[in-house]
Amino acid sequence: MNLKSATLQAIDEVITHYPSKRSATLPLLHLIQEDVGYIPEDAIPWIAAKLEIQPINVYEVVTFYPMFRRKPIGRRHIKVCRTLSCALLGGYKTCAAFEQEFNTHRGEVSPDGEVTIDFVECLASCGTAPVVLIDDDLHEKVDGAKAKQLSDQIKQEAATRR
Ligand code: FES
Repeated sequence: MNLKSATLQAIDEVITHYPSKRSATLPLLHLIQEDVGYIPEDAIPWIAAKLEIQPINVYEVVTFYPMFRRKPIGRRHIKVCRTLSCALLGGYKTCAAFEQEFNTHRGEVSPDGEVTIDFVECLASCGTAPVVLIDDDLHEKVDGAKAKQLSDQIKQEAATRR
């Protein structure tokens, strides 16, 4: 596991915030996922050693919370809101449009490695549903046509990188 030096610093810092080291398990997992995009297998013994607990204690936390990913993700992460307002206004169709554009299914890396598409819960922009977060950018009122337009942009950016 190759963590950025800023992540390593944040990890050392966050551990000091807790009277018991093991309480830092969740924040450490979040920091690692933010850096690497998922929780690599070797992160589990690494965290255990850092917090002086058993790897099974870390493993239990990773498997309990669905927000922790066990596999790498694509270069871009497309998160489609599926909570009530977005679901009622077509969030599922929006998700299907992205899946079709990138020839992939939710939770998988697309064959070209460019994207991973996931459902997420309310993104706090219910008035502009359906809402999609692409990496850190929020996109509002994303119907099928807008999903296609956003997908085209991602594909164009990918093409210029090659
Ligand atoms: S329901 Fe989708 S942003 Fe709130």
